[in-house]
Amino acid sequence: MKETIVFLTGAGISAESGLQTFRDAGGLWHGHRVEDVASPEAWEKDPSMVLAFYDARRRAVRDARPNVAHEAIAALEERCEVIVVTQNIDDLHERAGSRNVLHVHGEILKARSTVDPSLVYRLAKATIDMGDLCEKGSQLRPDVVFFGEGVYALAEARKAMRNARRVVVVGTSLTVFPVAGLVKEAPFDAERYVISPDSHQQVPDGYMFLQGKASDEVPRLLRDWP
Ligand code: APR
Repeated sequence: MKETIVFLTGAGISAESGLQTFRDAGGLWHGHRVEDVASPEAWEKDPSMVLAFYDARRRAVRDARPNVAHEAIAALEERCEVIVVTQNIDDLHERAGSRNVLHVHGEILKARSTVDPSLVYRLAKATIDMGDLCEKGSQLRPDVVFFGEGVYALAEARKAMRNARRVVVVGTSLTVFPVAGLVKEAPFDAERYVISPDSHQQVPDGYMFLQGKASDEVPRLLRDWP
């Protein structure tokens, strides 16, 4: 039976593809207040501002390309059972070739009904506009998880972590729960790594810290696997 390797990724793995992170210098939360663009209250107060925020990020995603870290993770699927649990709403893992991706914070290239969350649509255009309605006649919103909302696929992500022989955490500050808490679900005898260039990176007990950029450290770590 192939061993299972789980990658828990965050905005940092897409940084070298040109997409902003959130909490680094110049990150998204330095230019916007979460309360204004990524909360249910923001959507109620000014949906156009929320739509514009995600339209701009969607344009950046479409202009971005997967980097060698995304590609190394995808290539590993030829040799191992790989599950990517990502907080990222971009599709760079999929475009690199990963086939088993859990988007626990949603996907920016999809839209969701505001009256029936089970109605999700792959976007055929670059923007979601006021007046774009679901089949039940309600306004569409980005299919992303706002602060304060429940995350997607959490039970599936937990199960993946519990069955992992190796866990690699890449490009996340591990500050947003419940996803950050997944690191504790890994078996004590699993090989566990955290990759980030930040010397102040939070490293959970039992994890080995590999300081460096994803495009350097991920290919280097995976080169000799399994
Ligand atoms: N390679 C690897 N890691 C990097 C790189 C890089 N080139 N550049 C930055 N990083 C690291 C930073 O050191 C930091 O640890 O990526 C992490 C980015 O952290 P955040 O900006 O907090 O992003 P993330 O952890 O994904 O945020 C989690 O918060 O705002 C919400 O929903 C949003 O999914 C997001 C969640």
